[in-house]
Amino acid sequence: MVALDVTDENKAIEISREVFQYVDAIKVGYPLVLSSHLSIVDRIKEITKKEIICDFKLADIPSTNEKIASLTLRYGDGIICHGFLGEDSIRAVQEVAKKYGEKGNYKKVIMVTEMSHRGAIQFIQPVADELAEMAKRLKVDGVVAPSTRPERLKTIKDIVGDIPVLSPGIGAQGGDLNKVLNILDEDDYIIVGRDIYESENPGRRAQYYYHILKDR
Ligand code: XMP
Repeated sequence: MVALDVTDENKAIEISREVFQYVDAIKVGYPLVLSSHLSIVDRIKEITKKEIICDFKLADIPSTNEKIASLTLRYGDGIICHGFLGEDSIRAVQEVAKKYGEKGNYKKVIMVTEMSHRGAIQFIQPVADELAEMAKRLKVDGVVAPSTRPERLKTIKDIVGDIPVLSPGIGAQGGDLNKVLNILDEDDYIIVGRDIYESENPGRRAQYYYHILKDR
């Protein structure tokens, strides 16, 4: 999954065209959407025909999460939410996704467990196993867990069982791809941002990851 955190709409479209054949999904977040518009998701989807996940890390009370999710899922195929707000905040997003699902439009609700940066050790790591347990209970469609700490990735993956894991931290954040690939299985994703979109040739860099994943 490529993270398209560029702040120029045209650049985002250009990179999408270069990388789409090598990725399973595209993640967009605030950098791109705030510098353009949420409808950029439609444009990228039209060009790439790939799943687009909106990484908005929702962290609000249920009624606000519900409003943000309703607007976001008009465009995205999935949305990333924080779990530390508690079950009701996630359930509100799942209710929105369910309504889309009833109209034949499946939408994924993905929950953050432990984050990949160093600061995650401070507050979120101590409760990350509980967050993973909650994700399992709520049957979310995916969890985010760190490639930067393979031992934590493994623990979280063991807790969530068959829920797919999305793992950022490879490339710019220094995660060890071999170690991570020994933990993840075929339903899981690595998320790579800067190492692809900041490279001189994003298409070739995406192809590099594609071959590693395909040949494993
Ligand atoms: P880089 O450039 O570091 O981009 O390859 C990684 C992408 O993933 C996001 N990110 C996270 N998202 N939990 C998340 O939900 C995390 O722990 C996490 N760590 C990184 C980051 O915003 C960027 O889009």
